[in-house]
Amino acid sequence: MSKAPIIVTGAAGFVGYHVAERLLDRGETVIGVDVFNAYYDPALKEARAARLDGRDGFTMLRMDIADHEALADLVKASGAQKVIHLAAQAGVRYSIENPFAYERSNLAGHLSVLEACRHAGVEHLVYASSSSVYGDRPLNGDGFRESDPAETPVSLYAATKRSCELLSQSYAKLYGFPQSGLRFFTVYGPWGRPDMAYFSFTEKMLKGETIEVYGEGKMARDFTYIDDIVDGILGVLDNPPAKGGHEVYNIGDNDPVGLMDMINTLEAALGIEANKVFRPMQPGDVTATYANIDKLHALCGYKPKVKLAEGLARFVDWRRGARV
Ligand SMILES: NC(=O)c1ccc[n+]([C@@H]2O[C@H](COP(=O)([O-])OP(=O)(O)OC[C@H]3O[C@@H](n4cnc5c(N)ncnc54)[C@H](O)[C@@H]3O)[C@@H](O)[C@H]2O)c1
Repeated sequence: MSKAPIIVTGAAGFVGYHVAERLLDRGETVIGVDVFNAYYDPALKEARAARLDGRDGFTMLRMDIADHEALADLVKASGAQKVIHLAAQAGVRYSIENPFAYERSNLAGHLSVLEACRHAGVEHLVYASSSSVYGDRPLNGDGFRESDPAETPVSLYAATKRSCELLSQSYAKLYGFPQSGLRFFTVYGPWGRPDMAYFSFTEKMLKGETIEVYGEGKMARDFTYIDDIVDGILGVLDNPPAKGGHEVYNIGDNDPVGLMDMINTLEAALGIEANKVFRPMQPGDVTATYANIDKLHALCGYKPKVKLAEGLARFVDWRRGARV
């Protein structure tokens, strides 16, 4: 009997593309679902999808996950027992101008995934949350823990991601299918997202344009290389909680880096010194993020391997040879 496929939502996105690649590498059959929206250049999504389309065992379906009837039909008909739900409206700043994009993709979309999984009897749902649920708080000794309060979001994006966790908690209790939520911390790397600072700074620096450094350069982020993120996602996928269980895990690098250090590292990788203009923090931004990863390490031995200098060098290599 052939293996049940794994559904990956957001498979044309940055994280979803890499997850699908790794699943195919280990011999899984993968159904990708993505609406290819224009939040950033869809050509990049098409280029990721084209690489997946060429591989055995992969099918991409162009579908809005908030279309709950279509999604429920797909999940049931596919016979999938595992769903990795990564589709979302990402980005903190965009939510100020486009709040309803977050309502549709993150709230209606997540509910639609939950309903589809419940009716199809899916054995494990792994879904993306975000470090932004921790709100704006100072760095502390050993990082933000999953047991810390996460009730003071400073952006609509963060509020929708925290809402997804609460929706999942209620579905785990009501219907019993195991779920794991992953709080990603600033994921970066090849095939990354052009709206993120390391990527947009690179584009500007290559063109000799000035970069805008927000928070006067005093922010810090727990940058996490994409391959480490994929290791963590698969580690969680392979270790579901018991029936009725719902667990939330941080998935980060456990090593916050200041924005100016990130820029210096990027300058070294590119061999270009950036022209910088300093700006105050923007609404919705948080000062710092810092993942405590003990819980994920205890589950699956998760240990990030790629530090920022190496990861940005790999990103720059990809960007210099990129086709898009
Ligand atoms: N990259 C990060 O640093 C980061 C950090 C925290 C959380 N996350 C979360 O991780 C997940 C993946 O993020 P990413 O960086 O790959 O983002 P991405 O924007 O590259 O990928 C998301 C994909 O979802 C698709 N999508 C959006 N709405 C959809 C809908 N209604 N129906 C179907 N497809 C839809 C988009 O077209 C896109 O291809 C998201 O849930 C995001 O919120 C990412």
